[in-house]
Amino acid sequence: MQATISFILDGKIQSLGFNEQFKPTTTVLNYLRSLANHKGVKEGCAEGDCGACTVVIAELNQNDSLQYTAWDSCLVFLPMIHGKQLITVENLIQYNAGEKRLHPVQQAMVDCNGSQCGYCTPGIVMSMFSLYKEKTPLSKENIEDALTGNLCRCTGYKPIIEAAARACAEIKVDQFDSNEKQIVAMLLQIKDQSKSILIDTTKQKYCRPKTINEALELRNKMQNSVLINGATDVALRVTKRHELLEEIIDLSGIPELKKFTKTAIDFKFGAGMSLENVKKVAEGALPALFETLAVFGSKQIRTLATFGGNVGSGSPIGDTLPVLMAYNAEIVLQQISEDAAPLNTEQSFPNISERKINMNNYILGYRETERKPKEIITAIIIPTPLANTIIKFYKVSKRKDLDISTLSGGFSILLKNNCVETITLAYGGMAAVTKRAKKAEQYLIGKLWDRATVDQAMELIAEDFTPISDARSGAEFRKLAAKNLLLKFWSETK
Ligand SMILES: Cc1cc2nc3c(=O)[nH]c(=O)nc-3n(C[C@H](O)[C@H](O)[C@H](O)COP(=O)(O)OP(=O)(O)OC[C@H]3O[C@@H](n4cnc5c(N)ncnc54)[C@H](O)[C@@H]3O)c2cc1C
Ligand code: FES
Ligand code: FES
Repeated sequence: MQATISFILDGKIQSLGFNEQFKPTTTVLNYLRSLANHKGVKEGCAEGDCGACTVVIAELNQNDSLQYTAWDSCLVFLPMIHGKQLITVENLIQYNAGEKRLHPVQQAMVDCNGSQCGYCTPGIVMSMFSLYKEKTPLSKENIEDALTGNLCRCTGYKPIIEAAARACAEIKVDQFDSNEKQIVAMLLQIKDQSKSILIDTTKQKYCRPKTINEALELRNKMQNSVLINGATDVALRVTKRHELLEEIIDLSGIPELKKFTKTAIDFKFGAGMSLENVKKVAEGALPALFETLAVFGSKQIRTLATFGGNVGSGSPIGDTLPVLMAYNAEIVLQQISEDAAPLNTEQSFPNISERKINMNNYILGYRETERKPKEIITAIIIPTPLANTIIKFYKVSKRKDLDISTLSGGFSILLKNNCVETITLAYGGMAAVTKRAKKAEQYLIGKLWDRATVDQAMELIAEDFTPISDARSGAEFRKLAAKNLLLKFWSETK
């Protein structure tokens, strides 16, 4: 175990211990703002909504080359950047024969008049820089997707989008390419020397295990600890509610949890896979899951947020929950159990037990799930849908992007001779839990899938739910929209 963290900043390995100045739950934003030469990063909202705090993280991928992603630094606890390179707007400056030059993304912002007051500009530049380093084919969609998590209140987005298009149209070698070998060598050095992290200050205990086994052992001993993965939910308890989280188990350093496997019968997603990576897998293969993630938060949020975290929150407005019900997914839970038989012959800890809970039985109450205190979600399994099953996801929210659902629906249907053989109508935001419209489903089974039947089922939806009125909408709107989602589903599947 080690009590310090190491990461690269300004081209050097920085080792950081924790004391009165830096707690393990100090955010990367607050750390950077405490440094004299990294004030470019800004705080706008401290809750992942504005992107003013965007930094870029470079980390080793499976081939030991660098992968660059944009993160909202206001949501990231310092130990989460252990073993990574932290890049801020100050690091973009280039030197040519001793002369300072702007990076191409910065130059394009100047040339396209992409900045006025400048408060959002460092964050916008960093999101553009991340896109530039992705070196993916450029389209209007991926430019907009890269910038969705950045708000600008004065310039207007047209010149900003133009700047991104101009800068990324021709990717040139920059200082990050020239220094890549050196950075990779430093990251490998940190990786080789890294142990699991245990930061124990008098007020907080922060554990960042390297394996699932270790995480389960820790959870067994610390059942009241807060589990985190991407921390996009949990960080708000610190940044907005100023809570002191006394015991934390951070699962973000466990490579096994980020694995994906596909067989002929199912897709198995490690619980620690980022939703951005889940989205890439889902594209083409699981269209309803892809649609869910296409309107989930922003790219910065999806890069941090994990599949296990969304399911783990058990939130009635968690977007993946209804669609996982429609896919008939299973949640894999593991724990240390005194009398468990080995899961497989290679298992080094013989006392780990595993169970799979169908998503439709997983939610028990408001943010209450089947998961026992000792258990950790290790994977989410989606059975390969039958060829003739149709699965869809719908989200109703005030804004298309970067907004939380007012209500949502994950629906699936199997028709035989135009009659309903099986149907799932799972709704988020209509009750204290993600819930199926059981009366409407039962009514529809065996019936002709036509407008008259659907009209009847829509009336039953009103009996299935008694939604609340809140800041996002009134109860009546929710009921009407829920009925209309069924009508939309019918019109798209008839
Ligand atoms: C700006 C913003 C936009 C957002 N937009 C959306 C949106 O569009 N749709 C949506 O559904 N959500 C949204 N969210 C909420 C959040 O991003 C998601 O719930 C996300 O999936 C949480 O994942 P995480 O890894 O960050 O979870 P964390 O914050 O790390 O954890 C969330 C919960 O899950 C538990 N947990 C985490 N991992 C595990 C595990 N392996 N086993 C057991 N329990 C675990 C934690 O203890 C905690 O209770 C948004 C959040 C922000 C800040
Ligand atoms: S400060 Fe607004 S997203 Fe971080
Ligand atoms: S330039 Fe002022 S907020 Fe964007």
